[in-house]
Amino acid sequence: EVEIITCKNQIRSWSRTMRSNGHKIALVPTMGYLHQGHISLVEEAKKHANLIVVSIYINPSQFAPNEDLTRYPSDFNSDLLKLKQVGVNVIFHPENLYETNSESGQTGSSENVERESGFEPKIEIESGGSSVTVERESELSSCLEERGQLGHQTWIRVEKLEKGLCGKSRPIFFRGVATVVAKLFNVVEPDVAVFGKKDYQQWRIICRMVQDLDFSVEVIGSEIVRDADGLAMSSRNVYLSAYGRQKALSINRCLSKAKSSIQSGEISCKQLRDSVMQEICEAGGRIDYAEIVDRESLVEVEEIRGPVVFCIAAWFENVRLIDNMEM
Ligand code: PAJ
Repeated sequence: EVEIITCKNQIRSWSRTMRSNGHKIALVPTMGYLHQGHISLVEEAKKHANLIVVSIYINPSQFAPNEDLTRYPSDFNSDLLKLKQVGVNVIFHPENLYETNSESGQTGSSENVERESGFEPKIEIESGGSSVTVERESELSSCLEERGQLGHQTWIRVEKLEKGLCGKSRPIFFRGVATVVAKLFNVVEPDVAVFGKKDYQQWRIICRMVQDLDFSVEVIGSEIVRDADGLAMSSRNVYLSAYGRQKALSINRCLSKAKSSIQSGEISCKQLRDSVMQEICEAGGRIDYAEIVDRESLVEVEEIRGPVVFCIAAWFENVRLIDNMEM
């Protein structure tokens, strides 16, 4: 039987009791609306631990104001069914992870004081003109207020890794991800946590955070799960028409081509990037980035000399898709 836990104290005491009885606990953080990609993380987790916790929490702080959090898909009953089938021990499904005291219902008093005293959260948005920054800042602060997070002041930034790739177009995304994952680690206290390499930068950022802040959690990266046609599974794929999906297959196709060019001796990243960009553009995709980067530092490389990962983000029919391949 799957146990559903919604309160922070309860999951922490469950976890401590289990560990003192000799169990090993793995956490798989998700935002729900689960597909086979998520389920494969649970299967991977089972290789490393005997008790599995899946968290389902749509984290407001990783959505920018324009990304409309409220439209994020969810279907708890179907998630529950899938997790029962694969076999997990606990679903951690908090209502608001940013609430100071989710148990006693004492909320908001300190927030109100801060609001009255004109408290404003400092939102650093790197690069970009100052006018953009100011606009974004006020937008974001009203957005956080709406979401009942105004009292939250502590953020984790993995300063170098969060800047490139997806960080360029989503400046507060990884701050929100790193912070919520740190909170999940602190309340669930897992021995192991599993992340998908589909979100390669996210995985690397969590690895780095754990290393830099001495979290006692082993972070596992799990392979990308693709549909039979090669498209990397994502909750967003449902927004593509059949036609758009066909076009989007160019992403995986050109990643595979790049990989085989490298195997047959191509070392120029410019050549590799140019042909990928051409193929995606011809398929009607709009590229956000296509970069060949070092697997650890995520710094762009010019020539292939060691293990790299080719990362792509592109829009097809207003759906932003990301994919990557280690080469
Ligand atoms: P979410 O998008 O729900 O993804 C949860 C986990 O599933 C992530 O580790 C992601 O990399 C993995 N995943 C998604 N699609 C995958 C695929 N096709 N193959 C393999 N793994 C896949 O990522 C998040 O949620 C959030 O940012 C979170 C880490 C939960 C923090 O809020």
